[in-house]
Amino acid sequence: MGNKEKLILAIDTSCDDTSVAVLAGTRVLANVQASQTNIHQQYGGVFPTLAKQAHQEHIADCVDLALKRAGLSNSKEQKTNLDALAVTVGPGLAPALEVGINYAKKLAQKWQTPLIPINHIEAHAISPLLNPQTCQAPRTVNFPVLALVISGGHSEFILIKKIGDYERLGWTVDDSAGECLDKIGRMLDLGYPAGPVLEKLAKKGKSNRWPLPLAMTAVENFNLSFSGLKTAGHQLINQLSAKQPLDAQSVCDLAACVQKQVFAQINFKLERILFSPDLKKTTYPNKQYLKKIKRQEIQAPVTEINEVWLGGGVAANIVLRASIRKTLSNYQKITKKKIKLFLPYHKKFCADNAAMIALVAQFRSLKKNYHPQELDRQPNLKIG
Ligand code: KG4
Ligand code: ZN
Repeated sequence: MGNKEKLILAIDTSCDDTSVAVLAGTRVLANVQASQTNIHQQYGGVFPTLAKQAHQEHIADCVDLALKRAGLSNSKEQKTNLDALAVTVGPGLAPALEVGINYAKKLAQKWQTPLIPINHIEAHAISPLLNPQTCQAPRTVNFPVLALVISGGHSEFILIKKIGDYERLGWTVDDSAGECLDKIGRMLDLGYPAGPVLEKLAKKGKSNRWPLPLAMTAVENFNLSFSGLKTAGHQLINQLSAKQPLDAQSVCDLAACVQKQVFAQINFKLERILFSPDLKKTTYPNKQYLKKIKRQEIQAPVTEINEVWLGGGVAANIVLRASIRKTLSNYQKITKKKIKLFLPYHKKFCADNAAMIALVAQFRSLKKNYHPQELDRQPNLKIG
C-alpha cells in the first residue's frame, strides 16, 4: 500500500443503505449497514425523502456500533485513535448524501480529525482491494487494471493506471445494468431490488426461449445502453401476459433471457476493450479487424491491461462473474496473455458499503488540507 496503515472511519449514505465502516489500511475492522429495503420495496425503487429520513434515524447508531466493533469508543478522549474520517460526497441522491456529509462534519469537529471527501464510483472500482481483518499483507497489484463498476446507478469501464489515476473508457448512455434488471423485475412483480431474485429464477429458466436485442454492437465506442433491452423486455412481458397470466416457468425463462442479454452486452464491450489496437487513443476494434484476429489472419494486439476488477451490486451475480472469466479465457486462447478477474472478498462488499469509502481514503494524503466546512454533496460526480 505504499503509505502507512491508517485507521479510518467512513460513512456512505449515497442511496438506500446507511453504512459506516472502520478500516486499518485495507483491513475491514467493522462494517455496519442499516438497510432500507423494506421501506422502498413498495415503491419498486428508492424514494429520496424516505431515504433521507431513514438515514437520519440510523446514522448515530451505525457510527456507535462500528466504533464498538472496531474496539474504539465514541468519546472525546478516543479522538486520536482515528487518523481520519471519510464520507461519500457523490454521486448519489442529494438528500441522502447530505445526511452522511453533515454527520461526518460534526464528528470531524468533535474529534478534530481530517475529513476526506470520497467519490462513490472510485470506491466501487477499487473495492476488490479490501481485505479481511486477518489479512497479513495486501497483495501487489499489477497495473494498469480495468475496473468494471456494474451497479444500480452505474455501468462503467474504468482504466486504472494507478490508484488515483483513472480514465473512463466507456459508460452507459442511459440506464445502468442493475436498473434494467430492477425494472424488468418490477414488471414481473419480483420486488426491489430484483437483481438477486432474477438471478435465482434464471437458474431454472431457458435463456434462449425468446430472442432479445443486443444493443450498441454497431456503435464504435466502449459505451453501453440498457434502455432498449428494458423496453423490449417490457413489450415481451405485455405480449405474453395479454394472452394469459405468466406461468412460473415463463417467469424463469424471462429472467434467464434478460439476464443473458444484459451480461452479453457487458462482455461484448469488454472484449472490444481487450482487443483495442491502441487503448491510449481508445481505438475501437471494428468487426472486420476482429474477424481477422479470430481467423488468425493478423496478430492480435496484446493489451496493456493486466488485471480486471469487478465491483458494484451486480458484481454479486455468479453468472456475470462466470461470463467475464469466459471472455478473459477466450482472450487468453488467442493472445496467450492471462488476465485474472478480481472481486471484493465478500459479496456484501459488491453492494453499497462504507468499507470501500474508507479504502479510497487510505490512499489519500493526510497532509492535504481538507476543509470540512467547504465539503458539499456532488450528486452527479463522475470519475476520470
Ligand atoms: O452497488 P449497489 O448496491 O447500489 C448502487 O450503487 O447502485 O447496486 C444495487 C444493484 C441493484 O440494481 C440490484 O438489483 C443489483 O445491484 N444486484 C444484483 C444482484 N445483487 C444486487 N443484480 C444481479 N444479480 C445479483 N445477485
Ligand atoms: Zn453504489
